[in-house]
Parts: sequence; structure tokens; C-alpha cells
Amino acid sequence: MAIYLIFLFVIAVLYFSYYLLLKNQNYWKIRNVPYARPLPLFGNYKESLLLKKHITLVMRDMCQQFPNEPYFGSFYGTTPALVVQDPNLLKLIMSKEFYFCNGREASDYYGRETIAKNLFLAHGDEWKVLRANLTPLFSSVKLKNMFYLIKNSSDAMEELLAEEVKMNPSIDIKCLLSRYTIDCITACAFGINSDTMNKNAHKNPFKIMGEKIFDTSDYQALKNICRSMWPATFYALGYKVFKKDICSFFIDLMSEVFKKREETKMSKNDFVDLIMAWKRNNHISGDSMSNLKTGDKKKIDIDVSNDLLIAQCVLFFAAGFETTSTTTSFLLYELAKDKIAQEKLIAEVDEYFAKHDAVEYECTNMMPYTEACLEESLRLHPVLGFLTREVMDDYTLPTGYHCKKGDRIHIPLYHIHHSPDHFPEPEAFRPERFLGDEKKNIKPFTYMPFGEGPRTCIGMRFAKMPMYAGLLKIFKNYRVELADNMPHKITMDPKATVTQHIGGIHLKFIPREA
Ligand code: HEM
Repeated sequence: MAIYLIFLFVIAVLYFSYYLLLKNQNYWKIRNVPYARPLPLFGNYKESLLLKKHITLVMRDMCQQFPNEPYFGSFYGTTPALVVQDPNLLKLIMSKEFYFCNGREASDYYGRETIAKNLFLAHGDEWKVLRANLTPLFSSVKLKNMFYLIKNSSDAMEELLAEEVKMNPSIDIKCLLSRYTIDCITACAFGINSDTMNKNAHKNPFKIMGEKIFDTSDYQALKNICRSMWPATFYALGYKVFKKDICSFFIDLMSEVFKKREETKMSKNDFVDLIMAWKRNNHISGDSMSNLKTGDKKKIDIDVSNDLLIAQCVLFFAAGFETTSTTTSFLLYELAKDKIAQEKLIAEVDEYFAKHDAVEYECTNMMPYTEACLEESLRLHPVLGFLTREVMDDYTLPTGYHCKKGDRIHIPLYHIHHSPDHFPEPEAFRPERFLGDEKKNIKPFTYMPFGEGPRTCIGMRFAKMPMYAGLLKIFKNYRVELADNMPHKITMDPKATVTQHIGGIHLKFIPREA
């Protein structure tokens, strides 16, 4: 009898696994959507699940199989995901019909990790209220008032770079710039001096936390992919994306910051002040997401807990430093390869310093060639190579395809940025694309390194401050070249969430007076 029961159990498990692996195999066929043929379990992402190829590149390869389709079906592991590549449809999904696709992904699992209850992952009313209440932090006046902190960090970065160059002109610039951008974000957001540009930076807790958040070990990379592909199983097995020490570090840090502010009654007009005002009121309020559909004026209140506040702090820290240091490093890399562009940018830097003694807020708006270089570098190396949206309410595309609540939509940003239809000679670094009339020809929703629509990057204008200040300080003093052994082509690290080159970006810094 026991053997018989075991046999039945094994058959049931096998049948259930078979059902789970193959239940969606005909998903796209039934819906008459062209699709990429999947493998059981891996779907179309075998190479990225085996950590062999970055997910962005797997998606690009898939898109190349469907050059003329506005969208096609794919399997993200075992889950169907619609890959939309037509700019007109993207305009609907990301902007015009935002109400229907306001989620990012796996929204049902939002809040499973309290530290991840943040603006990036929120959806619906909670996202809308959070976004409305965080937006004032990024007003022009607020940013301008913060700029002296960025200036201080850029002065420290200038000194650090000079010391490092004296010891060895070949530098891992991504690493150095991460220390700089961490200093910028902790000063502006938390009013803290991170001291990351101190000589003993390897022991610096902020630098260590930064590395832990963007850990590229096999284990962490697999956890990130599995959480995103199979959230139900991931959480059922008791896994968490964020390590415990990251949570406790930020809980302790922010509790201390809040306490000090309360004791000193000092106002710095920064992120901490803003969220402490939320805390005092115990809630924040704003319009309901449903108003976008109904036209009503319904208001929503959200309770403010310490967890909610700390989650936004961790997000700003993480989103704020890695993106800006990566973007600046890739631009330096491109300029190291393109001497003509570098000289033009240096001429603009010299012109700036001929009129100004120091870096000032206005530098973010008065250097058109530098801006074009940044934009072109972000086209080639977007920090997030693909974006996601989740259908939050049934919606029919103009093509007649019916998207159901919970469906996943993938936006192949890297592929769109590298498409010869939108950008001729797509692999060439050509800042002129973003100048004058050429810029006007760029079709909407074909260039979106900061995303698009209401969920576009909230920190875009903030990011410009450390990037411009850093570039001014670097090119005031140096020219850059590729370090020995630094390849002419980027190899994307398959384990990194944010686009990264395997092995860091190593450049030679040549003092300009030499
Ligand atoms: C060069 C620097 C940066 C790049 C390239 C970048 C890129 C992006 C992208 C692509 C998104 C997704 C947008 C979408 O889904 O449509 C995003 C969202 C976001 N970014 Fe950035 N980002 C940068 C800097 C920053 C900074 C400095 C901060 C904070 C201080 C920040 C905070 C955020 C937040 C909170 C979101 C979520 C917005 C939402 O869902 O409402 N980012 N960013």
C-alpha cells in the first residue's frame, strides 16, 4: 500500500511539474500573436538564467527575429510577456493610456520585503500618492539650493583624482565615480557626509552598502532573476532580494538622522525634511489612480510608517549613485575612443571656466555639446536596457489585441536605441545626433534612457548635477585615453542589474598641462 501511495505521489508531482512547465506553451499561438519559441522552464531566457548573457542582449536577439512586428510574444521563464517595440504603441502604453499599464512588474508581490516598498516598485494609488509627494523634492529651486553640496563633493573628487593619478594614471573610473556619486547623494538626500573619498574607502560603510545593493555574485544575480520571473515560488521558499544587513544599516542610519534633526530642530530643506513632515502628519494624501479612468476627484490617504520612509531612502541611495556613476563612466569611455569629440567637449569646458570661477548650478543647462555627448552615450549604454510595465486593468490595443490585468509588457529599450531604423549607424558614437535639426528628427518613444510617461525617472534633473560637475572637474585637468588592455567594445556583465562592463572601466588620465 505504501509503495502504491509513493508511486501515486511521484506521478502527481511529475504531472504537476509538467503542467507548470508547459501550461503556457500555446499562450501566444491561441492569441494569434507571433512569438519566440520557448524552452520548458527557461522560456526564451536560457542564456540569461545560466548567467551567460545579459538579459538586455537576449531580448535584443529576440527582437531581431521580429523586425517588422509592432509586438511579439515571449516567455519570461514560464510567464508570457508581450514585447512591444513599436513607438506609437509605446506612447499609448507608457503615456496616453497610463492608467491601464501603471504597474511595473509582479505587483501582487509588492510589499513582501518592507525595504522594497518604494516608488520604483509601487503601483496604483500608492504609487500615485508617493510620486505626487516626492516630486516637490526635485523642483528647480530645491535642486539649485542643493548644488553647493554637489560642488563640495566635486571638489573632493578633484583632489582624490589628482592623488590617484599621481600614483597611477590608469584608473578604474567607475569605482572612483561611485565614491563621488555616493557622496553627492548622501549629502543631498540625507544631509550626511559619507566620507567615501577618504583614502580608506574600502572600509567605508556607504561604499560597502552600495556594493552589497548592486552585488554581482552568481547567487545574487540568480535571486534577482528568479524574483522577477517566479515571484510566487521565490517568496514561498522564503527568499528575499535584500540582505538583512542592508535593511538594518539603513534602519539604524535613518533613525539616527531623524533623531538628530528632531533634537537640533535644524531644517536643511532636503529629502529628510520632506519625509519627516510626512511622519509628523502620519499620512500623505493625493489623487486616486482611478481618477484617470473615471474623471472623478477621489482622494487617497496613505499611512506613513517608518518602513515606508526607510524604503524611499534606500531607493534614492541606490537609484541615485549607481546610475549616475555608470552613465558618466560610459561617457568617459566613449570620449577616450573619440579624440575629436573629446577636444570639442574640452573646448566647451574651457569656455565655461573662462566665464565662471567654479562649478555652478547653471552648468547643467549651458553646455550643449556636453549634453549631446551624454545623450549619445546613454543611447549606446542605457542604464536600464529594458523596462517593464504591468497591465493593471484590462485594455485592448488599437490592433485588437486584448491585454488582461496582470499581463507583463516588456519594452526593449536597448534594442530600440540600437535600431538602424531610428538611429543610422547605430553602433557609432555620434553626439551630433542630439544637436540642432538632427535632434528634432528623433522620433518620440525611440529614445528614452530615463523612461517615458508618468513613471519616467524622478531623479533625471538631479542626476545632471553630479554628472556635469564631475565632467567639468575632470576635463578641466585631464584628457582621457583607454588604459592598456581596456577593450574597444563593451561586454555587458550578465550578472549586473544596471548595464555594466565586465571588469570595470579603466582609463588613463593625462594631465592637460603636460
Ligand atoms: C543618469 C542617471 C539615471 C538614469 C539613466 C535613470 C534611469 C531611470 C529609468 C530608465 C527609470 C525607469 C523609468 C520608466 O520606467 O519609465 C528610472 C526610474 C526611477 N529613477 Fe532614475 N535614473 C537616473 C538617476 C536617478 C537618480 C539620481 C534618482 C534619485 C535621486 C533616480 C530615481 C529614480 C526613481 C525613484 C525611479 C522610479 C520612478 C517611478 O517609478 O515613478 N534616478 N530611472
